[in-house]
Amino acid sequence: MDLSQASVIVTGGAGGFGSATVRRLAKQGAKLVIADVADERGEALAKALGNGCVYVHTDIMDEASIEKAVQTAADLAPLRAAVIVHGGPRAPGSTGPARTVNREGKRLPLAQFAHTVNVYLNSAFAVTSIAAEAMAKNMPLASNQRGVIINTASIAGYEGQAGQAAYSAAKGGIIGMTLTIARDLAPIGIRAMAIAPGTFLTLAYAASMTDEQAQAKWGPMVPNPHRMGDPDEYAVLAAHIVENDFLNGTTIRLDGAQRF
Ligand SMILES: NC(=O)c1ccc[n+]([C@@H]2O[C@H](COP(=O)([O-])OP(=O)(O)OC[C@H]3O[C@@H](n4cnc5c(N)ncnc54)[C@H](O)[C@@H]3O)[C@@H](O)[C@H]2O)c1
Repeated sequence: MDLSQASVIVTGGAGGFGSATVRRLAKQGAKLVIADVADERGEALAKALGNGCVYVHTDIMDEASIEKAVQTAADLAPLRAAVIVHGGPRAPGSTGPARTVNREGKRLPLAQFAHTVNVYLNSAFAVTSIAAEAMAKNMPLASNQRGVIINTASIAGYEGQAGQAAYSAAKGGIIGMTLTIARDLAPIGIRAMAIAPGTFLTLAYAASMTDEQAQAKWGPMVPNPHRMGDPDEYAVLAAHIVENDFLNGTTIRLDGAQRF
């Protein structure tokens, strides 16, 4: 799909995967909407790219906020791609991964489980459906395609670690809904795909350790290449999915053969 006359929205566009994807798709001439809550990083990236790329403060927990970002993209040029790759706020009272029943015998509160599913699954469906509604109004291209949606799962959607029940449920939900959404959107000429990354060196790790510490801790778990992934490797795959009309309805693992 040619993006030179198109707009693309990237949720979490100021983050690790998001900013790498924004940079790569901007090189193809697309007008990018960087949808994120990280105003400083988002504004700086939009300014660095130029070519009509804009940052839109977007809270993926709020449907009206997503609608505004999608409309901004559609106003720039026909929205042809949505890359959904945001993080989100931690559940109130949560300090990180939590087992179904912890060592003190306390169960994970349902509100915390539901919050994580909201952040990683419900919000992704919200962006998917809002973006698809906008794409449905596009004139189809000569290929009969109107657009493509790329969600972000995780290898935790297949093989979650202890303490990841909610995150695994959310990411498994992305994997599960991808084919169904592709079938739903097929009559309108919109494809739906997902990428399931392994362990990548993004800002998600930078908060708690240096890049070298993260590589030393997580890199050895990846069989080959024996290192954490580079966010641009995600962006390369996202760009290929946009380009290749025959990729539809599936989740691609991107993990250096990592299996926990
Ligand atoms: N890094 C990994 O190893 C890895 C592996 C598998 C899956 N993932 C998934 O990739 C996605 C992106 O992760 P990342 O590693 O690039 O993290 P990141 O922290 O680098 O980027 C996440 C971005 O989301 C933004 N964000 C946070 N709350 C938001 C909100 N309410 N509304 C809009 N944006 C918000 C952040 O500001 C940030 O820019 C997540 O869904 C994550 O689960 C990451």
